[in-house]
Amino acid sequence: MRGIVLAGGAGTRLDPMTRVASKQLQPVYDKPMIYYPLATLMEAGISEILIISTPTDTPRFEELLGDGSPWGLSIEYAVQERPGGIAQAFLVGESFVGDEPVALILGDNIFYGALGLAEIVGAFTEGAMVFGYPVSDPLRYGVVELAADGKVLSLEEKPERPKSNLAVPGFYLYDGRVVQMTKGLRPSARGELEITDLNRAYMEEGSLRAVRLGRGIAWLDSGTHDSLLEAANFIATIEHRQGLKIACLEEIALQQGLVTPEEMETTLAAMPNSTYRDYVAGVLEEHQSAQ
Ligand code: G1P
Repeated sequence: MRGIVLAGGAGTRLDPMTRVASKQLQPVYDKPMIYYPLATLMEAGISEILIISTPTDTPRFEELLGDGSPWGLSIEYAVQERPGGIAQAFLVGESFVGDEPVALILGDNIFYGALGLAEIVGAFTEGAMVFGYPVSDPLRYGVVELAADGKVLSLEEKPERPKSNLAVPGFYLYDGRVVQMTKGLRPSARGELEITDLNRAYMEEGSLRAVRLGRGIAWLDSGTHDSLLEAANFIATIEHRQGLKIACLEEIALQQGLVTPEEMETTLAAMPNSTYRDYVAGVLEEHQSAQ
């Protein structure tokens, strides 16, 4: 399966922080925000990735991540000329997606914990899949209502009166029909192709599945100053306690066998001195001594 990271948006909610660097380039503790959704895709076994951003920010992501080769990834880029909704990613990325299944993750969504994504992605064949994550403020999100047997009863975007406390995180799986399905959508009242409308189209044909994410999993969004600070504190707390980093792309690449230790050595040699580099060096050393 291929993956798309959508890192567009005007980012005005974080002004003035985002005047010169977009939201997804902002730090979440010790690394740029986009590292986290990239790590989630890698952990799901996805290594062919398209990053979609604005005309001004796309070159900046390219500067940060290049072709992805240091992590054994293939990263391509595409520009969303104007913010036209999350589902527009499939039109911007039409040639990348083709008629293959694809995962979409939003560039400001951070996941932590044993989600079992590799198994879920490995078993995915048709229809669409969303997740449902209990939150205290569902009205800020897409909301999914599930029957006891897991059937999707309703999906609503930022409802005034949410029918459940299950928010739909910004990570979605679609089958090879997603481009066609998106072309069948009409823009919403705010003139955007809404991801919730796309998911509803799959729901109406009976091919949408939802997986409830329970306790022990963190899903954080980082779209406001407070949620950004909370996410950074969360990451710092776990990293300090365990001495392990979250979303260290070099570490995941090595674990997943996307790069060899020799390739990682070359990457390491090009990294400037930092505590991040020290960590990667430690990971490599440990990996080599375990061989
Ligand atoms: C978007 C989606 C919403 C989803 C959320 C997850 O909202 O429209 O359905 O729950 O991402 O982060 P936005 O953050 O663009 O307001």
